[in-house]
Amino acid sequence: MPKIIISGCNGHMGRVVAALCEADPQVEVVAGFDVIGTTDRAFPVYSSPAQFSGQADAVIDFSSPAALDGLLSFGTATKTPLVLATTGYSPDQLKQIEVAAQTVPIFRSGNMSLGINVLLELVKKAAAVLGNSCDIEIVERHHSRKVDAPSGTALMIADAAAQGCGHETEFVFERHSVRHPREKKEIGISSVRGGTIVGEHEIIFAGHDEVMEIKHSAMSREIFAQGAVAAAKFMAEIQIPGLYDMSHLVKQVM
Ligand SMILES: NC(=O)c1ccc[n+]([C@@H]2O[C@H](COP(=O)([O-])OP(=O)(O)OC[C@H]3O[C@@H](n4cnc5c(N)ncnc54)[C@H](O)[C@@H]3O)[C@@H](O)[C@H]2O)c1
Repeated sequence: MPKIIISGCNGHMGRVVAALCEADPQVEVVAGFDVIGTTDRAFPVYSSPAQFSGQADAVIDFSSPAALDGLLSFGTATKTPLVLATTGYSPDQLKQIEVAAQTVPIFRSGNMSLGINVLLELVKKAAAVLGNSCDIEIVERHHSRKVDAPSGTALMIADAAAQGCGHETEFVFERHSVRHPREKKEIGISSVRGGTIVGEHEIIFAGHDEVMEIKHSAMSREIFAQGAVAAAKFMAEIQIPGLYDMSHLVKQVM
């Protein structure tokens, strides 16, 4: 049974991951890392990875880019695979992750939802077939508190569509100032903000007399936690250093 460490265990995502693991007989949480101390956890919590002297098969990290140095030192020194779900790394940190991945297996994804990552594969395949005959539009919807638009996931979807098309594409974010008909190379991206929508992404392939739509709706944080736990189980089996992402996991599942 894989032994898991949860980094950022006292945060919103860390608590959801811990609850999922506690209900899963196939994993065991042996420790947590968090700068916030607490006594209400079923496992020991350390304020830094350096304090942990036990053994684990994978670390799931939903914390902060500030935790990266300690995690990479821990991962490379102990050869413990890392699942990095934290977002907001700087370009320098992304390079650090690449370098560390030469020594230890590292899994990183800005969106741990299995559904979104299956959707990326579907979009790529659909765009390869329909890209020449259909116009591709992406509509994303999020809650009213979200500050960035379009969502990073909408951009990942647009990239997947562009890759699948195999011809020149141009992302169009705003149409209000455009006064000409839609061009074939365009991939339109529109954002809706309102209420408490956790996150919806819809990809429309609009052709002559036919429309195909692929849609993903996130209802809760649990989908990200489920993806991270699946990634940790996957990484616990991985012996070869390298950089892994959800596409590796999706290929194994599909
Ligand atoms: N990849 C995904 O699918 C996905 C999904 C949701 C959230 N996230 C990302 O996960 C991260 C955490 O999100 P959250 O909503 O749980 O945040 P949060 O603020 O609720 O929790 C973060 C936790 O990390 C701890 N922490 C902060 N700095 C630390 C450090 N240096 N060392 C150890 N622990 C530290 C905090 O004390 C806190 O308990 C964010 O970067 C968020 O964007 C990713």
